[in-house]
Amino acid sequence: MNEIEEQKQYMQKVKEINENIKQNDKENNKKLKYTILTMGCQLNENDSEKLCGMLEEMGYEKTENGEEADIALFNTCCVRENAEDKLFGKLGELKRLKEEKGISIAIGGCMMQEKHITDKIKQSYPFVDIIFGTHTLQRFPEDLYKVLTEKIKLEDILDIDGKVYEGLPIKRDSNIKASVTIMNGCNNFCSYCIVPYVRGRERSREPRAIIEEVKDLAKQGYKEITLLGQNVNSYLRVEREKQIPFEEYEGVHSFATLLEAINKIDGIERIRFVSPHPKDFTDDVIDAISKCDKVCKLVHLPLQSGNTKVLKEMNRKYTKEQYLNLVDKMKAKIPNLTLSTDIIVGFPGETDEEFEDTLDVVRKVKFEQVYMFIYSRRVGTPGDRMENQIPEEIKHKRFDKLKELVESQIEENNQKYVGTIQKVLVEGESKNNQELLTGRTDSNKVVIFEGDKSLIGQMINLKIVSEHMWYLKGEVVEK
Ligand code: SAH
Ligand code: SF4
Ligand code: F3S
Repeated sequence: MNEIEEQKQYMQKVKEINENIKQNDKENNKKLKYTILTMGCQLNENDSEKLCGMLEEMGYEKTENGEEADIALFNTCCVRENAEDKLFGKLGELKRLKEEKGISIAIGGCMMQEKHITDKIKQSYPFVDIIFGTHTLQRFPEDLYKVLTEKIKLEDILDIDGKVYEGLPIKRDSNIKASVTIMNGCNNFCSYCIVPYVRGRERSREPRAIIEEVKDLAKQGYKEITLLGQNVNSYLRVEREKQIPFEEYEGVHSFATLLEAINKIDGIERIRFVSPHPKDFTDDVIDAISKCDKVCKLVHLPLQSGNTKVLKEMNRKYTKEQYLNLVDKMKAKIPNLTLSTDIIVGFPGETDEEFEDTLDVVRKVKFEQVYMFIYSRRVGTPGDRMENQIPEEIKHKRFDKLKELVESQIEENNQKYVGTIQKVLVEGESKNNQELLTGRTDSNKVVIFEGDKSLIGQMINLKIVSEHMWYLKGEVVEK
């Protein structure tokens, strides 16, 4: 029996325990509930959808209200420091619920792969029932079963790279857009980044598994697919280089051929992917984006720094010029290309002049969106051991300067949308005003508009009538 089938048996066993609890407590005959808090990137969100899938299979129902939960689950991130403060704050709150109601508490995800964190939890928050890591997520049913039946505290963390598992149940957040993880781990070891230490080495999923998952999503009516990986455009690269066997399926043997194969799947209307690495942006990928009509022309191309010396210290493997040349080549080959990026300010040793290079690249490229981060020291990374750390005050000044530039560019760029017709995938009611609908353009801009609820899930044409920094307003164009 493979490991997932074994876990399905544990899911069944937990379900039986829950059925018994329900039968013995007739007045209170309601489903047991779970609440989940997810931090971090889309990969973590996708992992959480799998955890939700397993929990629902075990007979639990989701609640947003921690007060009525029987299980509280955290899926953690550790890419920057603020996530730690958030987790420990939440754990403080949960202590009361543990004491008053005896809820089960489980913490998983990237932060649990850091020993100094799990030591702190065991010492200061001994009421936590399950601690699990990124390579043991699929064993959550077994861990939960043991905790429920043996009343023990359990730690299930592996330091080795996990295998790629197929066939876990999944409960997705949306029924229009779906994320599909195509590879796990990262081999790049950028010197500021903790991800390679907590997610292990790159492992790609088999082409067949991905294609079948996307076909199934199309059948269920999903319109947009986002392919996920920490280094998504090196899909199957390690396998090819190290001659690790994989089975080619529907012509898929690389990231470019994967885009082409998914582009052919009926029903899917949009394909996105995050995050590619500039050093792996080969011509075949650029050509695939250009010729596949469903692949969105917004490319997220993480810059991190615009200065060649800082980039070298960061171990990013490209120079300022190489990045700008890549952007020029992409702009020439992909009509209507838009770009978004990630930038870190205040990396150790970064001077004011070097920071100016980052501003220079931002001015030149004119990104559609910039995700800006203040450098955060991560235990165990080369960046943390560097001596020339930048004082917080300077980091914040640089951050503000970058933010000002980015916001002025966004305002200017938004103006260009006004008066144009945009293809928008309608996602649902607007969060702030249920009378209005919300959707996104190819370039991932939010558009708010008045329209009939039957438009939800459809791709429609909207005329952009005004811009408001973080969203646009549109009007339905009569066909
Ligand atoms: N694999 C992706 C995303 C990694 S994490 C990539 O290579 O782009 C998302 C972003 O967090 C990174 O792009 C980077 O900008 C930021 N980041 C990572 N480590 C950081 C750190 N120590 N301090 C501040 N920002 C960081
Ligand atoms: Fe971190 Fe660099 Fe890997 Fe991205 S590519 S996850 S920034 S080490
Ligand atoms: Fe965070 Fe882990 Fe993603 S550290 S950014 S949740 S891979």
